[in-house]
Amino acid sequence: MKKIKTADGTFTLKNDKFNECYHSSEGAVKESLYKHIYPAFNVIQKKEINILDICFGLGYNTFLSVLNRPQHSKLNIFSPEMDEDLIKNLKDFPYPKEFDSIRHIINKISDNFYYEDEFVKIEVFIGDAREYIKKLSSIDIVFQDAFSPKVNKELWSIEYFTQIKNILNKFGIITSYSVATPVRCALYKLGFKLYTHNTDEIRKGTIAALVDLPFERVDFEEKLKRVNCYYYTD
Ligand SMILES: C[S@@+](CC[C@H](N)C(=O)[O-])C[C@H]1O[C@@H](n2cnc3c(N)ncnc32)[C@H](O)[C@@H]1O
Repeated sequence: MKKIKTADGTFTLKNDKFNECYHSSEGAVKESLYKHIYPAFNVIQKKEINILDICFGLGYNTFLSVLNRPQHSKLNIFSPEMDEDLIKNLKDFPYPKEFDSIRHIINKISDNFYYEDEFVKIEVFIGDAREYIKKLSSIDIVFQDAFSPKVNKELWSIEYFTQIKNILNKFGIITSYSVATPVRCALYKLGFKLYTHNTDEIRKGTIAALVDLPFERVDFEEKLKRVNCYYYTD
């Protein structure tokens, strides 16, 4: 796969099969922090936080969660990934300098798909995300970071989000780069409130939760006066 330098100086890859990059050209680290990690840790403050990282890819969301772990929280990170060879090769990926302090974690994940210490547990499941999430429960944060709905529809369908809703805690949060109407429609239809990111650092995405959150609300009712609600199905 082709290595690509993004605008914040960090590297991502272009996946030939999906014909998409793993991250936005605005920055691999920047996207992960501003679209996923900062909003999620802003609202989820617990002694033990269960994170579902959809999907592992190059692991930026998981590794940056570890590096930005709230001081008094233990993180349990569950992450499916269908591409076993990608994970096996992560040891050699040119991660940014700030990842040096977790080099031992990167190597363990790459070799064993598993890491645990007293502050963090990471399980990478090799296989289909939809199978894996059937056995999960009590999730606090979902990093919804599959390839785009155009090429990875099964991880954006209403059936998929129904599964996600079933395993999400009442105060749980979903973060995503996608602003696609069918994605927002599916979430809205399932009773999620929709928000977007309070930042000028990066293009805004979608944050969804069943409860009120301190983010800019997306007025989806207003949008539905102008467009039909449609969503992806399996
Ligand atoms: C956009 S990348 C994820 C980027 C990742 N979050 C990161 O920070 O590096 C999407 C990933 O989803 C994986 N994937 C796509 N469909 C999948 C599925 N049904 N089950 C498991 N993994 C899947 C791809 O192999 C790819 O690694």
